[in-house]
Amino acid sequence: MQQNKDIDQFDIPLAKRTYLNNPNSTLLKKLLIFTPFLFLIFSVSALRFIKYVGLIPPNNLSFQVAKNHDARILGHLPYNETPKEKLVLIEPNIEVHMDMRDSLLKMREDAKKDGIYLVFLSGYRSINLQKDIFYSLKSIRNQEAAERARVSAPPGYSEHSTGFAIDIGDATQRETDFETDFENTDAFRWLIKNAAKFHFKLSFNKYNKYIDYEPWHWRYEGSIEALKVFESSNRNYKSN
Ligand code: DAL
Ligand code: ZN
Repeated sequence: MQQNKDIDQFDIPLAKRTYLNNPNSTLLKKLLIFTPFLFLIFSVSALRFIKYVGLIPPNNLSFQVAKNHDARILGHLPYNETPKEKLVLIEPNIEVHMDMRDSLLKMREDAKKDGIYLVFLSGYRSINLQKDIFYSLKSIRNQEAAERARVSAPPGYSEHSTGFAIDIGDATQRETDFETDFENTDAFRWLIKNAAKFHFKLSFNKYNKYIDYEPWHWRYEGSIEALKVFESSNRNYKSN
């Protein structure tokens, strides 16, 4: 009896639970609930992406990358203007890159020995001159840019600004200058047979889908600098 009395003297408090309304703990709870869903969505998307990339053959992928890096405008690749100190005058009004001077003159000499008379029509052209040619002729001839670009490069996009391009005619058939008919001259036939020996290559052949055939326009690829300049064009030659 005495013992029960002693026990009654203790006031034992009931266990209390406090529910804290803390914003941090609410956020934590939400995160705990949504994390598995987020993880699931992420995994499904990642798997789909891997499957998609795996389905694309590597060649197509690199083709796509190359295409995205192709800086053509209306079919023409960009070219820098060669610095003045790299240009040499080979005859009145015709300047060319110093790298190609000897080879070009030798080609003309060798052609002459074969009874073929090559005439140089146009060499280096500044970007400003190219601008005049492109925009004024486009305007005079009432042509749209795409139409003009088939026969003339926009400024900053002409091989002529590199100093490595040369337009050639036949001195005995000047009526074919800058004409497709130049392909029927002895000069053209000689060039087709011999130009590669002098490191010259026809830039715009019949199969170029952007630019009209120019049998008179040749470019020099006989130095590292020239090869670097035309690397992009040569790399993409299949898609020309
Ligand atoms: N006629 C060539 C495409 C040029 O203008 O460079
Ligand atoms: Zn040309």
